[in-house]
Amino acid sequence: MPIESLSSEKLIVVLDIGTAYTKFGFASEFAPRYIIRSEVRCKTTDRLRKLCDYESPEDLFNMLTDFIHMIYFKFALVSPKDRPVVIVESLLCPTLFRETLARVLFCQYEVSMILVLPSHLVSLASLAVHTALVLDVGYKEAVAIPICHGLPIIQGWQALPLGAEAIHSNLKGLLSSSNSGVQNLPESVIEDVKVRCCFVTKKSRAEQLSLVKSETIPPPEVKYPVGGNTILNVCGKTREKAYEILYEEDNDHYCLSTMILDSILKVDLDLRQKLAENLLLIGGTTMAPGFKARLKEELAKQLKSERYKVLNIKEFYFHTPPCKENCTAWLGGALYGATEFLSLKAFTKEAYLKEKHLPDWVNLRDVTSIRAL
Ligand SMILES: Nc1ncnc2c1ncn2[C@@H]1O[C@H](COP(=O)(O)OP(=O)(O)OP(=O)(O)O)[C@@H](O)[C@H]1O
Ligand SMILES: [Mg+2]
Repeated sequence: MPIESLSSEKLIVVLDIGTAYTKFGFASEFAPRYIIRSEVRCKTTDRLRKLCDYESPEDLFNMLTDFIHMIYFKFALVSPKDRPVVIVESLLCPTLFRETLARVLFCQYEVSMILVLPSHLVSLASLAVHTALVLDVGYKEAVAIPICHGLPIIQGWQALPLGAEAIHSNLKGLLSSSNSGVQNLPESVIEDVKVRCCFVTKKSRAEQLSLVKSETIPPPEVKYPVGGNTILNVCGKTREKAYEILYEEDNDHYCLSTMILDSILKVDLDLRQKLAENLLLIGGTTMAPGFKARLKEELAKQLKSERYKVLNIKEFYFHTPPCKENCTAWLGGALYGATEFLSLKAFTKEAYLKEKHLPDWVNLRDVTSIRAL
């Protein structure tokens, strides 16, 4: 990147703060400049703490102040003062988190305006479609939201704690049962084993694997070195079973595929086929090898069940975004941030200092006041 463009007045930072990873870069660019862990080093204990592990509102305020400082002055290398910021957030982001982030950006760093964009909606920006079902499988949870004619249909949302966190704990259990003496593996090792060695298997093989006496030939074992001389045996079964937690139905018969179908069930009849033909997967977990193919198999199986027969859906089609799935929402924010939408819809510092509250379009109070304008 040329130095002169870094000093340009036009640089608008686009932030997507995820539970595990924060993506940030500048508007009108095609990829985030950095993807960093959403954590800060505690000043008293010198240990890394995840942003989502805050203990009180003040604790969150302090962590976010340090985190934003690190983003601007260690990575982005621009001054936040009097510059706009684009924030890509989940519609299910806790109010405390978004309000505290606004307080940090406006009061500590004096940004000029904030444009908050819902991640599911803006993910469609790079595809130029207005109706789609967006499934975000990130770290903490999987969230499906139907978008119809450019509007998120909130009553159609579905969320389950099926993300990387669930896969990590499943993998941890599998690894410790096949490696005696390996109990407290750090999460970074578990994550690395997951990304490098594990994959989503076919449905027919998964059914075989769940049997006590399975006749399938497992894939080769991987010897993963941990630290000095310790070798972790990642056996074939473990490699194949790590992701199964996403596709196994829970006690209420919910899993990833039912989330999509339940979401479609909650919208009007005439939109259902269109949603099935416009599925978009976002979030890092959907990048696992075999994820999409298995989801297709699961959807086809669920469609045959009594509950979903009424849908009368023939085929499912997935979109392929022009970037990696974990950056699709960020890219949407970067595209919106480069248009006049920013000056039209952003919330300014003056307005914030008057209201001390960030408008939320799912909040009835804000919707009424926006309409009154
Ligand atoms: N190529 C890949 N294969 C498998 N998993 C991957 C891959 N790349 C990233 N991941 C996983 O994706 C997860 C992070 O996804 P993402 O960045 O979408 O989460 P997040 O936005 O921080 O979380 P959330 O959306 O829940 O707040 C990590 O746990 C990481 O291990
Ligand atoms: Mg995310």
